[in-house]
Amino acid sequence: MPPSAVHVPHPPYPTNVPARTTSEGNHHSEWICGCGRSLEWRKGFGILTGVPKVSRVTAVLEIAGLQKTYRSRKGTRKALDGFDMVVEAGQVHGFLGPNGSGKTTTLRTLLGLIKPNGGRMAILGKEVPRHLPETAGLVGAIVESPQFFGNFSAQDTLSLLADAGNVKRQRVTEVLELVGLRDRGKDRVKTYSLGMKQRLAVASALLKQPKLLILDEPANGLDPGGIREMRSLMRNLAESGMTVVLSSHILGEIQLICDEVTIISAGRRVAYGSVSSVLAGHGSGKTKVRLEPGVDMRAAVEMLRANGAQVTVEVDHFTVGNAGNPAQITRILAERQIYVSELTPVSADLESVFLELTGTAPVEGQNRQVDQTASVGGWGQ
Ligand SMILES: Nc1ncnc2c1ncn2[C@@H]1O[C@H](COP(=O)(O)OP(=O)(O)OP(=O)(O)O)[C@@H](O)[C@H]1O
Ligand SMILES: [Mg+2]
Repeated sequence: MPPSAVHVPHPPYPTNVPARTTSEGNHHSEWICGCGRSLEWRKGFGILTGVPKVSRVTAVLEIAGLQKTYRSRKGTRKALDGFDMVVEAGQVHGFLGPNGSGKTTTLRTLLGLIKPNGGRMAILGKEVPRHLPETAGLVGAIVESPQFFGNFSAQDTLSLLADAGNVKRQRVTEVLELVGLRDRGKDRVKTYSLGMKQRLAVASALLKQPKLLILDEPANGLDPGGIREMRSLMRNLAESGMTVVLSSHILGEIQLICDEVTIISAGRRVAYGSVSSVLAGHGSGKTKVRLEPGVDMRAAVEMLRANGAQVTVEVDHFTVGNAGNPAQITRILAERQIYVSELTPVSADLESVFLELTGTAPVEGQNRQVDQTASVGGWGQ
């Protein structure tokens, strides 16, 4: 079953969700539960009892019930609290969450850079970190800003990496072209702008022609043109069969580029699925109203305001912010012989849904601190 519906995070007890099966070569793993606490991971085609029919999908990345607690002398900090994520093949998948919600921790754990305290992860159907030696060559990643030698050029840097990874030198020229650094490839990295370093980082991740490309904040430091180029690069890569996972705070960009998203808050998944399915569960609560030409819009607006409506007037229409029942608008206006020609619910954008789900919308008069989320209703928080 594709994860099209918005997911409600599990309560603190095991909960079975529809099973899924992944396959890659001869290896098959059964994905039984979105909650790591009751997840079983079996090879072969086991028939499961007590769960709905298993559908066969190709997941390139699967994470279930991931736990990570950082420990230091100052105490402990739970960064991941049973986090789940599934990314299907050939997608551009957006990984969204406020600062400190656990995105980088997830990606670093996945790449074997830090050790989890619990949960399961698989890349291309192979459980990691156990199978990292086999999967590492299939994954290209940049996690937060990578560092390069300032005295090396991009060409030197990539050639070095290509030699180390048994990649043909010709690929260096290809990736420099792909990320738009062809004409600056011989300049020393220390003379690069932030966005150019970011492009070099993406080039290095692309060297191996990975099946899975993981980019933590790839748009960081890019100018609007660069963001647009990065967007078309991601789409082209996905069309060529690569699966791309990218974390970003630029939600408008994510909305434009991603097939599906996973939203994390305080170490837990709070929503996932296609952008449209995530948005569908969240109307903006606004209704757009257009009147017949020649009708006095001002009188209509005054009438609605007198009845408690919050109205914003635009050039040729107005929106009612608190129209719980749009029929109320037509009733009030029709009583005065004013008729509407359009009454449309205004759909939410990803940014407002993100702010609602993660409880990070600004509150007037308050300076929100990182780690601080307002409690959100209806999403299992
Ligand atoms: N090495 C560490 N030691 C202790 N705590 C850490 C460490 N790394 C991360 N954390 C904490 O884990 C939590 C998750 O951090 P993480 O870097 O994964 O967030 P993020 O979602 O990537 O945030 P951002 O959007 O700011 O990059 C934060 O509270 C952070 O302070
Ligand atoms: Mg991060």
